This record gives sequence, C-alpha cells and structure tokens, in this order.
Amino acid sequence: MSELLNAWLQDSMRWAEDSMRDAMEHLDLGPSDFAQALAYPTFAGGKRLRPCLVRLVCQELGGPDESAKAPAVAIEWVHTYSLVHDDLPCMDDDDLRRGKSTTHKVFGEATAVLVGDGLLTMAFEQLASLETSQALEMVGVLARAAGPAGMVGGQHLDLAAEKGGLDTCGVREIHRLKTAALIEAACELGALAAGASEGARQAVRRFGLALGLCFQAVDDCLDVTGDAVELGKTPGKDEAAGKATLVADLGLEGARQEAIQRAEEARDAALEAGFRSDGLALSLIDWLLARTN
Ligand code: IPE
Ligand code: IPE
Ligand code: MG
Ligand code: MG
Ligand code: MG
Repeated sequence: MSELLNAWLQDSMRWAEDSMRDAMEHLDLGPSDFAQALAYPTFAGGKRLRPCLVRLVCQELGGPDESAKAPAVAIEWVHTYSLVHDDLPCMDDDDLRRGKSTTHKVFGEATAVLVGDGLLTMAFEQLASLETSQALEMVGVLARAAGPAGMVGGQHLDLAAEKGGLDTCGVREIHRLKTAALIEAACELGALAAGASEGARQAVRRFGLALGLCFQAVDDCLDVTGDAVELGKTPGKDEAAGKATLVADLGLEGARQEAIQRAEEARDAALEAGFRSDGLALSLIDWLLARTN
C-alpha cells in the first residue's frame, strides 16, 4: 500500500470512528445494556471502507469533511447491521466477525436481531438530523441501496442460491445487490455531500459499482485463500454452505481475473469522475485488489 494511502486510511478510520462515537453520544440508545450491545459490533474493528469512500469522494469533488460525516456514519451503521444479521444462525451462521465473537454469540440471537434493527433505524435518524438541501436525497440513496432492490434483496438471493442452479450472471447479480449497491451508495453519498453535478454523480456511481463488484470478487477468493486471524472471520464457509460464488463458478483464477477486470473499470470511472490521476482513489483500488482482510 502506498504511504500516502496508508496515512490517509489511518486518519479516515479514526475520523469514521470518532464520528460514530460522537453520533451515538447524541442519540438516545435506550436501556444501557442494549446501548452496550449496539456498541459491540460497531466498535469491533473493520476496515471502515464505506465511510472512507464517502469522505474520499467528497474530498475529490471539493467538499468539506464536515458534510461527509453524517452519511459516513449512517452507511457504516447500515453495513454493520448487515454483518450482524448475515452472521445469524438462520443466515450464514458465523461465530467470528472482525476478529471477535459474533454479536449473537455474545448477546444471544434475539438481541442480535434487535441490534441490527437498531443500527438500521439509527442510520436514518442520523441523516434526518441534517439540515442541508441534500438530506432527503441522501435518505433515498441509502434506502434504495439497503432495501429489497439492494443489499436485502441480494441477501435473499444469496440464501436462495445455496440450493444451486445459478450461472455466472446470477452470481454477478447477487454481488451487485448484496455488496456493490452499498459501496456504490457510499460513493454517491460522498458526491451528494460535495454538492456534485448530476454528470459527476453518474461517473461516481459507475466507480462505486465497479469497485463494489471487485470487492465481492476478492471476498469470494479470500474465503478460499484467507487466514482466520488476518481475515477476522472464518474462511472456508462458502464451500461448506454450498454458496453460489465466483470461485465456485469460475475457479479461483477465474474469480481473480474478474476482480482485476472490475478494478480496471473502476480506474476508468475514477478518471471520468475527475478524481486526481495520481491520487488516493487509484491507490485505494489497488489496495482493495491486493487486500488480505
Ligand atoms: C464484509 O464487508 C461483507 C461483504 C460485503 C463482503 P467488509 O469486508 O467491508 O467488512 P468490514 O467492515 O471490514 O468488517
Ligand atoms: C455478505 O456477503 C454481504 C452482506 C450484505 C453482509 P458474505 O456473506 O460473503 O460476507 P462475509 O464473507 O460473511 O463477510
Ligand atoms: Mg452472506
Ligand atoms: Mg457471510
Ligand atoms: Mg464472503
């Protein structure tokens, strides 16, 4: 990873966590034991990719960090909720997440369901606290990406596909919905925070979609090649559950080639969006392609 990107990521991860802590202090989180359960998956670690993308796109398009704060917090809460639910016994049944025991292992299944519900709702409360002209549009972007035409719909297809019978196009569609929709939304929220034109927003959306598809292709590969300590989650789960993945469909090398191709598309879109050609966005693409966690 380039030194510039490393320093920027460290700073952005701190910024995202401080913003979430600050936002939680200003919300009524209910009974104190539930507040503790909400904080558990939220501050368990993680790459903070989505809030970093909100900040990155906002910066690239000339907006201030302050405008990126609320959407960055909101999308990381939606993402964290999706992980808490994804790990439930009725979904992927995982014990390890972000290097720690999963929320249902620590607090029980019912509380884990409610933690997810809480984080999702808080995300929209966070956007509702904005008094800018973009606030309502941000609500729409996040809601579409998180809902049945985005992440939730993708999770439904992902579970249904465990029975098999899906071709590569079907797998790509699952990836677009369950993962790329939120990553695309993170980028679009950054563009909205910067007050970007519709033209710039379109290129930013293309960048986010390609990056999101690249990200899930790499996630499928890491489930085969990754190490539990480094990954912070248990590898080998996809094959064991009979998941429809790019690796199952194209083999490890084929899935890797697909990730490389998506990264190339993301690079083209980044330049089209007017991001600096020697800047962070291009280094970030390389990092996501080479990541081991
Ligand atoms: C994991 O996302 C779920 C997928 C969409 C593949 P991340 O790999 O971004 O998880 P964290 O936030 O770093 O824990
Ligand atoms: C999950 O995809 C995407 C989400 C919406 C959480 P995976 O099930 O492959 O994510 P991991 O591998 O458990 O992080
Ligand atoms: Mg899953
Ligand atoms: Mg999973
Ligand atoms: Mg996975």
